[in-house]
Amino acid sequence: MCKATILLIVGIFAAVQAVPYTYDAEYTWVTGNLSVAVPANAVIGGFDPYGYYTYVGRVAYSSNILPARVVAETGIAHFNTATISHKLVNYHLLVTQSNVTFEWIRSFDGYQEKNAISVGTTGWNERVFICRAKADGGLLIGTLFRSKQTCIIKSDDLPLRQFDKYETLVARKNVC
Ligand SMILES: *[C@@H]1O[C@H](CO)[C@@H](O)[C@H](O)[C@H]1NC(C)=O
Ligand SMILES: *[C@@H]1O[C@H](CO)[C@@H](O)[C@H](O)[C@H]1NC(C)=O
Repeated sequence: MCKATILLIVGIFAAVQAVPYTYDAEYTWVTGNLSVAVPANAVIGGFDPYGYYTYVGRVAYSSNILPARVVAETGIAHFNTATISHKLVNYHLLVTQSNVTFEWIRSFDGYQEKNAISVGTTGWNERVFICRAKADGGLLIGTLFRSKQTCIIKSDDLPLRQFDKYETLVARKNVC
């Protein structure tokens, strides 16, 4: 039996100086697009207003690495910056690994959860984290900049939403 304990290790990764516009390498991400089958261990993170489940993804856009909500059926990664929404057809999908368990926990105000999962860094050298909230008829994965202290979600042409209470994705280390 495997028992999960909260990973409280700050880790060497967090201590390492972040480099601008770089993918985070702490967890496993798989390159994807519509012509590639979604890995069986890809992580579902919510659902969109159209009834599709969305996978936890990330994209490189305008010198930033950003979280994305990926719809497997369409091969589209929906994502947003702090101001606009956008779509891309090439993305990375987060996949599970045997020694950690991913979990959504409640958080607030950009609080630095020590075991939060980063997608990478922005062009201004800030780590970007994954959040989600109920918005616009879905449970939408959004973008968490600690400097903005909110979970920012923008879905298509709908207004930009900012949540000071949201869920964020963290990793628990599996201890056997
Ligand atoms: C889709 O991803 C695969 C695997 O990374 C890659 O070989 C292929 O060129 C990609 N296709 C497109 C259209 O980007
Ligand atoms: C999990 O295993 C991978 C591959 O062996 C390793 O790189 C990583 O550091 C491990 N993570 C934790 C939290 O133990």
